[in-house]
Amino acid sequence: MTTIGIELPHGGRYDVVVGHGILPSLGERCRALGLGDRCALIADAALTDGLAGVAADSLRAAGFEVLIVPYAAGEGGKNLTSVETLVGQMLEAGYDRGAWVTALGGGVVGDLGGFVAASFLRGVDVVQVPTTILAQVDASIGGKTAVNHPLGKNLIGAFHPPRLVLSDTNALRSLPRTEVVSGLAEVVKHGIIRDAELFGFLEERIEGVADMKIDATELDWLIARNAQIKAEVVSADEREGGLRAILNYGHTIGHAIEAATAYKRYRHGEAVLLGMIAAGELAANRGLWESAAERERHDALIERLGVPEGVGQVDAATIAERTKSDKKRIGGRHRFVLARRIGAVDVVDGVEDDQVRATIEALQARCG
Ligand SMILES: NC(=O)c1ccc[n+]([C@@H]2O[C@H](COP(=O)([O-])OP(=O)(O)OC[C@H]3O[C@@H](n4cnc5c(N)ncnc54)[C@H](O)[C@@H]3O)[C@@H](O)[C@H]2O)c1
Ligand SMILES: [Zn+2]
Repeated sequence: MTTIGIELPHGGRYDVVVGHGILPSLGERCRALGLGDRCALIADAALTDGLAGVAADSLRAAGFEVLIVPYAAGEGGKNLTSVETLVGQMLEAGYDRGAWVTALGGGVVGDLGGFVAASFLRGVDVVQVPTTILAQVDASIGGKTAVNHPLGKNLIGAFHPPRLVLSDTNALRSLPRTEVVSGLAEVVKHGIIRDAELFGFLEERIEGVADMKIDATELDWLIARNAQIKAEVVSADEREGGLRAILNYGHTIGHAIEAATAYKRYRHGEAVLLGMIAAGELAANRGLWESAAERERHDALIERLGVPEGVGQVDAATIAERTKSDKKRIGGRHRFVLARRIGAVDVVDGVEDDQVRATIEALQARCG
């Protein structure tokens, strides 16, 4: 088991606890934090028979009253209508300011449950219990919560750090392979932006990890190491500013591909795999790679994880247009995170539209 402490910019702190089979300790840990007596357990409906039952039992054994609120609507329901429904269920149960929220599920439930907690009676505590790789290494850490608006993803949100993140790596065993791969895209990203040793481990083991042929000790190590990277980057950003941008590696074109295909064709991580191949190409065009061999390592690992096909059928102009709505665009030019070698990236401003377009076309020629 690993505990990563996260200091908040304006005081306060929370722990991210990573371990195999630690879900039954949830109740005691929440009790130790002095949380109120009534907990709304907002849980992915796919998990209400198994993991949510374990979480509820643990909370009740520690003396909490638990209202299980199943959520079934996925990414498509991560919106204000669902916020209203969930808040309504808490109000009907008589929950007041003494209540708090446990969000149990992937990033969708984490974002939605976190936003419900941020807004319920102007804000109550939230404990995150992430159950996907993506949520354990990325979404649950950093305090961002959000829901979608018809005009775009995650446009309505709040900064609402959790009191605790409890990541039981045993929960990951039931994930379908596509979700494992989607989460591993962020893991590969962490290796590229900051951790050559992690990248080396993935070079040795990526197929086995994608099939979840990895023992408990190694899985704990992998998730904790990645949670640590996200935590470090986010904390350093809060101290100095700007570092968080590197987490966007592969995401500028990745997000644009997701948006251009109405978020239906690719899982987020699949689009990030495409976006990272594109970023490698752009870095090569700008002469950033320190050696051709580093770029080959970069591309080879991403390809072994499985770059999806079919991006050649998406209109290049539409993808290019969608990169313009990137929140990181400055003065009409693009900001990209580009790699120099495995483990080291630069934030590059001033990339022109035609370079972006050429990069997208090169990606399509390669992964069509
Ligand atoms: N707040 C942040 O900083 C942040 C960062 C990255 C992503 N996100 C958000 O995260 C969301 C994506 O998260 P995700 O990829 O976890 O998707 P998700 O929550 O939709 O989960 C993926 C699928 O896995 C299922 N599932 C969850 N846990 C399972 C388990 N243990 N066993 C079997 N199936 C399980 C879910 O029912 C779902 O079908 C997006 O909405 C994105 O915006 C937020
Ligand atoms: Zn991502």
